[in-house]
Amino acid sequence: MPEFKTLKDFDIKDKRVLVRCDFNVPLDDKEEHIDDDWKIRKSLPTIQYLLDKGAKQIVLMSHLGRPKGEIVDNLKMNKVADRLAELLGQPILKLNDCIDEEAPEDERIILLENLRFHSAEKDSNEHFAKALSEYGEIFVNDAFGTCHRAHASVVGVPKFLPSCAGLLLEDEIKHLSSVVDPERPACAILGFAKIASKFGMMRKLFEKLDFVLMGGAVVFTFLKAKGFEVGKSKVEEDDIQLAKDLMIDFEDKIIFPSDFVVADRMEEGAKTKTVGIADFPIDKMGLDIGPESVSFFIEKLSEAKTVVWNGPLGVFEIEEFSNGTREIAEYLADADKTVVIGGGETSEAIRKFKLDSKMTWVSTGGGASMDYLEDKELPGITALEENTLRF
Ligand code: 3PG
Repeated sequence: MPEFKTLKDFDIKDKRVLVRCDFNVPLDDKEEHIDDDWKIRKSLPTIQYLLDKGAKQIVLMSHLGRPKGEIVDNLKMNKVADRLAELLGQPILKLNDCIDEEAPEDERIILLENLRFHSAEKDSNEHFAKALSEYGEIFVNDAFGTCHRAHASVVGVPKFLPSCAGLLLEDEIKHLSSVVDPERPACAILGFAKIASKFGMMRKLFEKLDFVLMGGAVVFTFLKAKGFEVGKSKVEEDDIQLAKDLMIDFEDKIIFPSDFVVADRMEEGAKTKTVGIADFPIDKMGLDIGPESVSFFIEKLSEAKTVVWNGPLGVFEIEEFSNGTREIAEYLADADKTVVIGGGETSEAIRKFKLDSKMTWVSTGGGASMDYLEDKELPGITALEENTLRF
């Protein structure tokens, strides 16, 4: 478990506190509205804590989208400021830039403009980090989802200010660490599309955990590698060798579904059929695990004390193909075990089924949670650890 300072190590009263949040929320297609404010709501405990402890001023900063160093009107932080003000029930002043703008003393909560409107953020420019640090006397990193990025607001600011983790970041590390060093038996449920981009994490989980249940599109690449007919299912041809390598090293730990829900198209209202793995029709694609697999997975999960889940088991967004993900989520929600949900699509699925409050932890980090589970260094965490030596 990394060692860094937390909010409890600081006297917040009458201080100006600069907070890095991850307000990178999904927007609608036209980028006019916030589609899902979950990440904003997850930042509230830290902001509320700072208010309750009497911070003189709280200056929040974040990126939104990937504007590549240019001002993009739709990616301005105004919608985040409005939503945050609504949720906190407090006014929020949004500044027009993230550096060199005056922060009026009588404003209690301020939100800086999108950090990525400056390429200096991504380049981790020291002058830019210094300019950001002028907004606070203490720096709080509460942006777990961005800790895998060595950007100025994440790794540069802690060079200039006494720094600590916010409540969300602290919780993320605590819960993800419970998977890195798990109570056994421990297992993973994995269900994404491509192996190549997740190979390191998969290998690490296969090494560490006692068994792994496979679902989602990735299963078909493995099954094709094993010589099974998988019809028109999504297979990543370039990943077949990687699947073979993993199966050579970890064959006895990997558990595959035995049946699938198939259809000829991935659409609402598509006609579905359940087939066994040995009878896969050549003209159909697999879009969910079948009922026999759900029962078998639940039986296996009942043996585990710790479960980490990364990637839905089927196309959960479409009712016809959501059953596998929903039933496994419902089982885990009521089970007496540590259940940690990786970020991204899996968290979306669990929240869609309104089961997030019943899981031990649902991570706000996509790439960051994968890197943490892979034991990769997270630059944002390292910067906090180094800060303890500096201040
Ligand atoms: C996320 O949404 O995963 C984080 O905010 C990081 O965003 P990025 O992948 O654009 O750096």
